[in-house]
Amino acid sequence: MDAAGSANAYLSLQNLSKTFPDGQGGVIRAVDGLSLDIAPGEFVTLIGPSGCGKTTTLRMIAGFEEPTAGRIVREGKDISGLPPFERNMPLVFQSYALFPHMTVFDNIAYGLKLRRMKRDAIAHDVAMACQMVNLVGTESRFPGELSGGQQQRVALARALVLKPKIMLFDEPLSNLDPKLRIQTRSEIKRVQQMLGITTVYVTHDQTEALSLSDRVAVMNHGKIAQLGSPEAVYNHPASPFVSDFIGSANFLDAIVDEVTSGHVVVRINGFPFSVPLDRCEPNPEPGGRVLVSVKPEAIELVSPVEPGEGSGFRSGPRGVVELSAFSGPATEYKVTFGDAYLTVSTPNIRGRTVVHRAGSEVGLEFDPSAFRVYPA
Ligand SMILES: Nc1ncnc2c1ncn2[C@@H]1O[C@H](COP(=O)(O)OP(=O)(O)OP(=O)(O)O)[C@@H](O)[C@H]1O
Ligand SMILES: [Mg+2]
Repeated sequence: MDAAGSANAYLSLQNLSKTFPDGQGGVIRAVDGLSLDIAPGEFVTLIGPSGCGKTTTLRMIAGFEEPTAGRIVREGKDISGLPPFERNMPLVFQSYALFPHMTVFDNIAYGLKLRRMKRDAIAHDVAMACQMVNLVGTESRFPGELSGGQQQRVALARALVLKPKIMLFDEPLSNLDPKLRIQTRSEIKRVQQMLGITTVYVTHDQTEALSLSDRVAVMNHGKIAQLGSPEAVYNHPASPFVSDFIGSANFLDAIVDEVTSGHVVVRINGFPFSVPLDRCEPNPEPGGRVLVSVKPEAIELVSPVEPGEGSGFRSGPRGVVELSAFSGPATEYKVTFGDAYLTVSTPNIRGRTVVHRAGSEVGLEFDPSAFRVYPA
């Protein structure tokens, strides 16, 4: 990458670092040499565990925090030293920070008044913003007279009315109940796509990250652990950390039996599984120990064969159900398999629900093409 970042990047974070004093003479590396190029109109989500540096990254982009090292480049210009109000990159966060004594109209109009826009133009733009986020009819109410979802939409409208080319979100939906989260989430996505606003979005919630983003940056300890499309980070996690963080995963110890040109045969609890080579990294050695990550939905539970069709189970791995929890769309199980303890998730398709009760013995059907094999 040259000094200006990749040529087609709208926003380029270059080797960004931020340290804070830890109060004991040392430093906290909140963000640690992070680089990220974001294309015009792209929706990029930063996701990762608490304390991994998401908010700090966002605050540096917005100009509220000065980088300790590195640069922020927008359309080829270094903006690292610009104050927030000259960046026009509104930040929407979970506490809506509305002015309680101002009406919805005045809250949304606030930034435009600061820009000394004419009254008619302000009224026009506020009306447009209200229409965009379905707030028409609430303009003369006060924030205290609105639901949480409506307040969050006022915060969104207040940002949109500034006609930003880039918007920043820090867990904007975490105060909303699950139904409203989904509704407001699609609202944000619809408006973002309609206006083509380049977006950096921070969340803890993997469903939110996967469903909203063009690309997801999974962060850990101030760095990007993996950057890719939602499908890529979910189906091809680059490390056990990403595998476990995006969704959840079972980690099983295994021995490599054999490596062929296209497959690796790994042995788990004595049973061989043939895993495509492109799901193993880096290339395993025969006889070596590896860690196999198996998503809960890559395991199927099968009942014993009915009496009369032969006896008991077909040959193959078996386990014992320790716990089963029906949640509507899926049933989640805890199943012992040798000395491993598996989490299994079974979708309940079109009402065809088979619940395996705790204590029952089940056959385990694994899908090895969905395994990931990592060094032990
Ligand atoms: N002003 C500050 N002074 C000292 N340390 C700070 C400051 N701001 C953040 N930190 C530390 O920097 C690290 C990253 O914090 P940050 O708020 O960016 O995390 P985050 O990923 O947003 O976490 P969360 O998901 O909990 O919001 C944390 O260890 C935090 O304690
Ligand atoms: Mg945060």
